[in-house]
Amino acid sequence: MEVDVNRRNGRNRGRFHLRVGLKGQREAVQMSSGVTNGASDGPAAKRARLEDKESEQATVSPATMTKVEDFLLPFRLSPEKLREVSSKLRKDLIRGLGKHTHRRAPVKMLPTFVRDTPDGTENGDFLALDLGGTNFRVLHVRVEESLQKVLKMDAQVCAIPQEMMEGPGEELFDHIAACLAEFLESLELKDKVLPLGFTFSFPCEQKDIDKSILIRWTKGFACSGVEGHDVVQLLREAIKRRGDYDIGSVAMVNDTVGTMMNCAYQDQSCEIGLIIGTGTNACYMEEMRHVKRVEGDEGRMCINTEWGGFGDDGSLRDVQTEFDVEVDRSSINPGVHTFEKMISGMYLGEVARLVLIEMTKKNLLFGGEMSEALSTPDSFETRFISDIEEESTGLEHALQILTEDLGLPATPEDCELVRLVCNTLSTRSAQLCGAALAAVANRIRNNRGLNHFTTTVGVEGTVYTKHPHYSDRLEETVKALAPKCNINFIVTDDGSGKGAAMVTAVAQRLAIPSTLLEDSDGDNNEDEEEEEEEEEEED
Ligand code: BGC
Repeated sequence: MEVDVNRRNGRNRGRFHLRVGLKGQREAVQMSSGVTNGASDGPAAKRARLEDKESEQATVSPATMTKVEDFLLPFRLSPEKLREVSSKLRKDLIRGLGKHTHRRAPVKMLPTFVRDTPDGTENGDFLALDLGGTNFRVLHVRVEESLQKVLKMDAQVCAIPQEMMEGPGEELFDHIAACLAEFLESLELKDKVLPLGFTFSFPCEQKDIDKSILIRWTKGFACSGVEGHDVVQLLREAIKRRGDYDIGSVAMVNDTVGTMMNCAYQDQSCEIGLIIGTGTNACYMEEMRHVKRVEGDEGRMCINTEWGGFGDDGSLRDVQTEFDVEVDRSSINPGVHTFEKMISGMYLGEVARLVLIEMTKKNLLFGGEMSEALSTPDSFETRFISDIEEESTGLEHALQILTEDLGLPATPEDCELVRLVCNTLSTRSAQLCGAALAAVANRIRNNRGLNHFTTTVGVEGTVYTKHPHYSDRLEETVKALAPKCNINFIVTDDGSGKGAAMVTAVAQRLAIPSTLLEDSDGDNNEDEEEEEEEEEEED
């Protein structure tokens, strides 16, 4: 099994830099890969090195720093606020699961019909489709029981043009079917009927493993005629229109679920999947007795939380800043996926851009001079944040990005302040995600009546993997808010491809029929209220 266990631990050893603490004070932390020698590494030597470094970097005057810190204050979340966010989500998890409360719940808690993680007996050849970002992928995956490995045999990437992301759904599905045809043709697989895992990373109401109704598009997609329809049927119809090949059984997969299953093939204690990339979301194994919307009480089922929708009922208003409100207002789907818009890669750069514009207007940056590029939406890419926060090269990157990409008259002082903005936004994102993950972990621990709970989270997404400090900040928050949970993070490789094959393989192994029950309209909340009380008592 090719799982990347690059946990980034130990990556930042030795050198000091400055960072901004929760309350906005500058604080010293040991970071990055400078040379250290044992004898000089005591506290006094550390302090001396820190002071050296501080005087090297402290080009920003204290007066300016105070103004900037005041300006950024609304983005700083106190430990109490984070605890509040975590406990609000915890209540929303219960509402999303409830038969009577689901319909109006902002966190949808969607049953996935995945009832187990892999047990090592899975085997065979699969096709996988992966749609969830700007590219679409087709893969041929082999699960080799004898080697205990998932092998990516072949893969092809097909771009999805912007117009297609917002055009008629039929065109999108025809494009998908055409890419698959080309792929099968090139591998001479067109006359084989292989089972297919379809990673479709949008909120879907699954009626069964192969019946999945799109609730709403996210992440910039807005194709007509897909919301409210079964995506498996749309895919099958597009393949039928062509008539030159066929597919076998289909398993619908959210990317979080693929990530969890891919990770669980290597580490059986993995019961949570986490994505922090273009969008954000998590799934976990829930007790069937709490999945009130699906028949049966035995065993567990993986729940796709769709936590990106947290706050859509206004519950995060006190955490949102004016910049978050503006990013939401100018997005393709205002009012939807509030939490995601404060956290994920599709939006983080845009929040930063709006902050930089406002700081420039207030004469805190670039001598008050704007550039055309900075006034252009999405010109400050989320990857710039990771680059600018890199330990040793960050300030150089900042200068290059600000002057060359954005045409701004940036001074070294501006670069430091922009780095502070990036640090503030990425820290908030990591802390919010950490608070959400703590809610999920605490829930599993309570479900199982455990005093201590150890688990593994399979994680993917460039915001998490490419940022130099994101994972540390997230882990720190989870530790503080879920102190009785011991969580191990594994960065997995290609949950949307290999994981989709794994979901398909496990579905074939289990093949238990079950039914999604009708929701009621929310007048009778007794079960959900009972569960909330139970949880509070257990805590
Ligand atoms: C989607 C989720 C997905 C997440 C990460 C969100 O926008 O609603 O289904 O898991 O992005 O890709």
